[in-house]
Amino acid sequence: MRSLILIGFMGTGKSTLGRVLAERLHLEQVDLDEVVVQEQNMPISDIFARYGEERFRELEHDVVRRYAAQPNLIISPGGGAVLREENRKVMREYCTVISLLARPEVILERVNRDETVRPVLENRKPGQSKLERIEEVLAQRMPCYQEADFILDTSDAPVELLAEQVLAWLNQQAGE
Ligand code: S3P
Repeated sequence: MRSLILIGFMGTGKSTLGRVLAERLHLEQVDLDEVVVQEQNMPISDIFARYGEERFRELEHDVVRRYAAQPNLIISPGGGAVLREENRKVMREYCTVISLLARPEVILERVNRDETVRPVLENRKPGQSKLERIEEVLAQRMPCYQEADFILDTSDAPVELLAEQVLAWLNQQAGE
């Protein structure tokens, strides 16, 4: 089958839902941030700090290109992978694109809960709160997150229920 790619802002549950879908569909899950970290042997925050965001986007583009073209995967890219038109094009061409949305307050709570440093959220104007930064970047990227085959709001539902919704939608697609 075409791979499923779960796009969405940080904290929308791409990796968590990806893991559950991979289990349910007996497919392999690939977390593209993890691939970059392993291949570069350094955390993403270090790649940003040492080489800058552009370099990270190049590395991200390279993994998107390599993995999106493979079948039978559940792919969880980083939240900014949709920024490049070429990435969105590759995703649309080879994958079923599932977009995860969540309210900014929910995103804030989730990103505060894990200790991953997210450079995009640390890069704030003086006096700007993390919530305001989330709202700002989310608004800029929203058109990219709307380019999807299926859009799901993950703010209030448990991950198992979200997985059920994706599976039901996939079954319906298969029947059409
Ligand atoms: C980013 C999201 C992060 C990671 C990097 C940049 C972004 O991934 O790729 O910090 O630009 O939104 P997650 O969405 O998995 O947190």
